[in-house]
Amino acid sequence: LHVVHIAAEMAPVAKVGGLADVVAGLGKALQTKGHLVEIILPKYDCMQLDQITNLKVLDVVIKSYFDGNLFSNNVWTGTVEGLPVYFIEPQHPSKFFWRAQYYGEHDDFKRYSYFSRAALELLYQSGKKIDIIHCHDWQTAFVAPLYWDIYATRGFNSARICFTCHNFEYQGTAPAPDLSYCGLDVERLDRADRMQDNAHGRINVAKGGIVYSNIVTTGGHGLQDTLKMHSRKFVGILNGIDTETWNPSTDRFLAVQYSATDLQGKAANKTFLRKQLGLNTEDTSQPLVACITRLVPQKGLHLIRHAIYKTAELGGQFVLLGSSPVPHIQREFEGVADQLQKNNNIRIILKYDEALSHCIYAASDMFIIPSMFEPCGLTQMIAMRYGSVPIVRKTGGLSDSVFDFDDEKIPVELRNGFTFARTDEQDLSSCLERAFSYYSRKPMVWKQLVQKDMQIDFGWDSPASQYEDLYQSAVAQARGVAQ
Ligand code: ADP
Ligand code: GLC
Repeated sequence: LHVVHIAAEMAPVAKVGGLADVVAGLGKALQTKGHLVEIILPKYDCMQLDQITNLKVLDVVIKSYFDGNLFSNNVWTGTVEGLPVYFIEPQHPSKFFWRAQYYGEHDDFKRYSYFSRAALELLYQSGKKIDIIHCHDWQTAFVAPLYWDIYATRGFNSARICFTCHNFEYQGTAPAPDLSYCGLDVERLDRADRMQDNAHGRINVAKGGIVYSNIVTTGGHGLQDTLKMHSRKFVGILNGIDTETWNPSTDRFLAVQYSATDLQGKAANKTFLRKQLGLNTEDTSQPLVACITRLVPQKGLHLIRHAIYKTAELGGQFVLLGSSPVPHIQREFEGVADQLQKNNNIRIILKYDEALSHCIYAASDMFIIPSMFEPCGLTQMIAMRYGSVPIVRKTGGLSDSVFDFDDEKIPVELRNGFTFARTDEQDLSSCLERAFSYYSRKPMVWKQLVQKDMQIDFGWDSPASQYEDLYQSAVAQARGVAQ
């Protein structure tokens, strides 16, 4: 199959969170299975250019429609993680992707409706016969209605559309007239069974993604009714992780590489990180607890805070690596960091840092994820691959991948971490106490748990096969219709 992913992120060139990991990981896995996979991204000024090989600008300029005019776009190509990527650079006075950050701009709706249209224009003008166009999150969900309402009617209709909504917390809503910027027909689409938001009477782009695509994956959050109506095409697939990027035995960011059969290397990473971060290195009997996350309400901010204090109370060490797009949350955690500045057992690092994240996964003994909701979650899988035992709230993808060590209803071989159900602090506290108790009182049991976690297969092979089946059946159905 010829599959094109249109997305706002891809690891490691343009990453904010799990979306980036998925685009790269799924793309690579599909390529390995023999499909032709291409990716289209915006050309952000803040991208990690050193992660692109053979970056060059094409000598064709693509003109795309926006708000009544045609604008030129430079198209760059390069290879990321072995995948061919096209980067769209609009020559628009608003400098849509020249903002020194990925999201959070006042005109995000415009920026991504522009990008979606330009990406489709690029595909249309290339004349390629594409089987699947896979768009991700609301930022590129415009692609689904644009494809069927505008491009398919011009004869560009070989592709089926797959829409993955990674997080229904973000649906992309705007006043109805804003939909017309990218050329969509507002009157046609501003209807309850099309793109009108179910609650606010605005336009909802994620809803358009559901209504206008052939396959939808993941979901919830206020769009249940729309999803129910489209349940025929709706499938939940648990993500994988890229086992090349996340591999402690080859990870170039680590002080020492290690594997499940050589945990001394893991201990060396802990010593190294403690020194690097200026943590107390004298008492080594208590665990190092970590949390690496976007700091947004979804992630359970009050519980993250509580975990820091509770770990200190239990005599452990805590490292938080967190990045927040929300200024008042950033300030709140800066306040916690100030308050705990003199505590040599706690480090709070408020930034996005890929290299440091690898070192923390490797160095930590436990990894905490107390999310309020979590569509899938990747950090629990990465943590396990690095032998850091997950302590998670039982919700969404976390409860599909982490099973409590003490839960007798679950087969012993599946038990791989510690879980708690409630959102209050007490439930988290007792869960942490249980984990600490195993760590210090039953070191052999703990070691076996670590080794077991490191060997679980979280690779993309199996989820990518599920996508492959979905793609194939959408393509087969399309043929059926055409015959
Ligand atoms: P989400 O997509 O909701 O942020 P996921 O668990 O799916 O959550 O994926 C998060 C990804 O982002 C992981 O690869 C994680 O390591 C990474 N990440 C999150 N915050 C940071 C940070 N501050 N620095 C480096 N990497 C981070
Ligand atoms: C979103 C979700 C996260 C998921 C990721 C990749 O950001 O918050 O749970 O793992 O997308 O699908």
